[in-house]
Amino acid sequence: MSPAAAWAVSLAATAASTYALDAWAAAVGAGLVASGLLADLGHRSVVVFLLVSYAAWVFGLRAGLQANGSLLAATGTSTNVLSKLAYDLTRRRFGAGRAARLAAAVAYTGTEIAKEVPYYLAAFGAAVATEAITTDQALIFLGGANLGAAFYEGALARLTRTVLGRHRRHASFDTDWVPGEYLTDYYRTVEPDEIATIAFLVDALRQAERDQPILYFGTGPTLHHVFACAETASEIHLGDYLPENLAEIQRWIERAPGAHDWRPFVRYTLQCEGNPWPTDAEVTAREDLTRAKITTLVRVDARHPRPLNRSYPTVVSAYCADSATGDRATWQLFMRHITGLVQPGGLFLTAALRRCRGYTVGGKTFPGADIDERDLRGALRPDFEPLHEEGIEVIPTAQHGAHGYAAILLCRARRA
Ligand SMILES: C[S@@+](CC[C@H](N)C(=O)[O-])C[C@H]1O[C@@H](n2cnc3c(N)ncnc32)[C@H](O)[C@@H]1O
Repeated sequence: MSPAAAWAVSLAATAASTYALDAWAAAVGAGLVASGLLADLGHRSVVVFLLVSYAAWVFGLRAGLQANGSLLAATGTSTNVLSKLAYDLTRRRFGAGRAARLAAAVAYTGTEIAKEVPYYLAAFGAAVATEAITTDQALIFLGGANLGAAFYEGALARLTRTVLGRHRRHASFDTDWVPGEYLTDYYRTVEPDEIATIAFLVDALRQAERDQPILYFGTGPTLHHVFACAETASEIHLGDYLPENLAEIQRWIERAPGAHDWRPFVRYTLQCEGNPWPTDAEVTAREDLTRAKITTLVRVDARHPRPLNRSYPTVVSAYCADSATGDRATWQLFMRHITGLVQPGGLFLTAALRRCRGYTVGGKTFPGADIDERDLRGALRPDFEPLHEEGIEVIPTAQHGAHGYAAILLCRARRA
């Protein structure tokens, strides 16, 4: 879902939910008073009833908070716009972890408490204004409204969980992605898909305009594709959706202890460039050059029609759009937004998992868009034409058992 759509859905859901909750809770409160069920209770018992109703309300609220957190993480939508606002702002700064969920929960709880105020005003205003309504009746009304609200929150939470459970076949980048797991599972050695991808990038980047900035879109926590452009690019800009992925790259730039070791990939890149036996010093020199050329780490979101407010003569996006969604239409949208960052006449290099519905990271299955070379050609037209004489390359990689895909697509294309 696009960010604009997520906001529209959240606004509509907030309006509908607030109206429904108010109407329902007020009806339950008024119904309880009118029924006379608790009319014979003494004042002390009425107060106990009110306290019990608050405990039930807190219980319902807790279920609502959990469901709201899951809804935000899975879809970016909420039945409380303030909660969504708090979640989005915190996620932008600190990532989609605990801080964002906590911010969403605080905003959600604050709004629910604020919604109590009109009930107090109505109940006690009525008790003061007219002799016909006693203080105990006002308290019974509040207790009934609380019980109604608790029931409503519980039912909404259950509905949310059911809907999410039905739609959630894949792990989520917002809640399940762990950069270290990805690096451990895929980047301890140079595997068959990367043997092909890095060789492809080395060759294709010879067609890139020299001494210009190059953007890597959806780079993840990785650098293995970046070493190939260090001599060509004036600057390297790395974009990814998750701040924790960018933080992992920053750790490598700063030579932090425990940062991932990319040296086998640098060595292989140099071999692809024609140096059959790169020395340790040559590997270090390429690492240093790459560190010096990386000038920008930026958060990008392929759901945005304009993920960055500039364009590039060369954009590389490998295993991003196809590996970020399980929905073909969403993949097409992502591709449109990513390729929109390529200048007229510019070069777009991409790699994708072929016919992959899901790939595993840390035992969790992330979504694959299940595309093939025809889909890719269709997504690039009419603005781009594949450059290679064989068009889009299809490379069998025999990694189905290990990761969940058997072939990759490699494509270089130039914008008209
Ligand atoms: C399988 S990883 C690929 C990372 C890297 N390019 C590689 O080849 O290893 C998929 C990447 O897509 C990114 N991603 C997921 N949703 C995204 C979105 N909406 N916009 C941009 N990138 C997204 C994830 O953060 C993740 O880094």
